Order: sequence, then structure tokens, then C-alpha cells
Amino acid sequence: MWVKRDDQTGSELMGNKVRKLEYLLAEAQDEGATHVITCGGEQSNHARATAFAAAQLGMKSVLVLRTDDPATPPRPTGNILLDDLVGAEIVWISRPAWKERTRLMAEQAQRVVAAGGRPYVIPEGGSNALGSWGYVRAARELAEDLAGLEPITVVYACGSGGTAAGLIMGAKLFGFAERGIRFAAVNVCDDQAYFVAAISKICADMESRWQLGANVTEADIDILDGHVGLGYAKSRPEELETIRSVCRSDGLVLDPVYTGKAFHGLLAELRANPARFGETVGFIHTGGLFGLFA
Ligand SMILES: Cc1ncc(COP(=O)(O)O)c(C=O)c1O
Repeated sequence: MWVKRDDQTGSELMGNKVRKLEYLLAEAQDEGATHVITCGGEQSNHARATAFAAAQLGMKSVLVLRTDDPATPPRPTGNILLDDLVGAEIVWISRPAWKERTRLMAEQAQRVVAAGGRPYVIPEGGSNALGSWGYVRAARELAEDLAGLEPITVVYACGSGGTAAGLIMGAKLFGFAERGIRFAAVNVCDDQAYFVAAISKICADMESRWQLGANVTEADIDILDGHVGLGYAKSRPEELETIRSVCRSDGLVLDPVYTGKAFHGLLAELRANPARFGETVGFIHTGGLFGLFA
């Protein structure tokens, strides 16, 4: 099995997030933003990476984070500790309020404007048309990385769809199917129907903004559903056992929320249907290691 180490994209920004933020924060800088506003779960890797990238570029950050009881915020462990260290302003919201996240971030943006600042709002996971360019570019890297390993199926964790959208657009633009390179995502929350719709929408937004001619259809979106287990950010003992076993056999650290769950799903798929992936299997390690310390 071949692994792309996107967990090594820089310690504070590590994982797949910095690839999207490279594009999103360039736009924020172009617009003269003073504050970056984004949202996520309480241990959001994306929120932590955004707060650090903002600090590195001289901007402040406001993080709208989902938790069980906003009146009693969680202890500062893992990513929350880092959010706190880097001086991000955290706005805790309840699970029901998460449905209102777009409006709640707009409210924060208005507050920034009222105080004389200039906000730049990033959706959950940095997963929109612009952010997904980070993984179109990663696909271009993979075109070189994977030379000689084809046919190969490359598996990765999917949480908000931006990584998937970029990889799938890239696969079409760079002719991966003809080369025998396929991608398959393990969703760590929601289900296949949700992600086919979410990823299709991001790809369609990319097409309408830049007319790339990639012609992504639903048939291009391969989601390995059925491995969410107990739910987002909830681990079953066997998932934790997979994390331990990969660590012991290869010294490779996976996180419980994304990569560990996805890798566990990949092993289950391999056991159930070994022929599905062909001879060589790839895995993109998308980071998230601070989630281990929560
Ligand atoms: C470590 C890690 N891996 C994978 C993902 C999933 O990526 P995406 O949100 O682009 O689907 C995320 C974030 O959601 C993440 O933090």
C-alpha cells in the first residue's frame, strides 16, 4: 500500500487544509481582509489550520464551533488548545444551531465590519470552488507520484467534500482514468447521497467560475459508504484498534475522526472485496493528528 503524506504539510497547518487555504487566504489578502471567519466541529482541523494560517499572514480569526452545550465549552485539548494559543476568537454554538451556521458566520462578519474591520468568510472545511483548487493541484502532484504504480485506487477520507471535488476534477482534467488511476472516498459522516450532491455542487461551481470542461458526472464520484460507525468524531473500539495496529506495524499515526476511520473502512472493504481495488492501493493521509490529543 502506497501512502501520500499530506499529514506532513507543515505542523500547524498540516493535512489537507493548507492546500485549500493557500487559495482561499490569497483571495482574503487580495480583498484586504483583517479577519477570517470560519466554522466547524469543536475539534475542527480546518478551523485550527485557518486560525494559524491567518496568524501567519497577519489576520485575526473568528471560529464558530459546534459543541453539545455552548454554556459549558469543552476543555482546551487538541485543536482547541491550539486555537486558544494562537488567539482565535471562538464562538460556541449548539448542534441545532449548526444548521444556521451560514447566517451565524454572516452575523460575525457584520460585527467585524461594525468594528471597522474587513471579514473574509470561509465555509466549513474550506470546501468551496476556490478551496478545491488545492486538491486539483494535489492531483497534478499525484500524476507524478503515481507513475509506475498504475493501476491504482487511491482512497481518502471525506468530511465536507472539498478534497474529493478537487481530486475528481483533477482526475478528469489530467486523464487519470485512461492511466488506470482511480479515487474512492470513505465518508466519515453523512452518507453517499449527501456527498454525491455536495461534491457535484462544488464541481459545478468550479465549472461555472472557470469553465474547465472537466464534465464531472455523478458516476465519477466513488463514495465507500457504510463506515461512519457510531457517527462523526465517535470511535468504535475496532477503529481505535486499527489506529494502534498501523502505528505499531508502520509507525504511521492516524487520527480518530478522519484518517483512522477512513483507513479502517478501507481495510474492511479490502477484506470484503479484495478485487475491488486492484493490485495496488493508495491512501492519502490528510492529517488531523491533533484530534488524537482530545
Ligand atoms: C484530517 C482530515 N482529513 C480529511 C478531511 C476531509 O476533507 P474534506 O473536508 O475536504 O472532505 C478533513 C476535514 O474535513 C480533515 O480534517
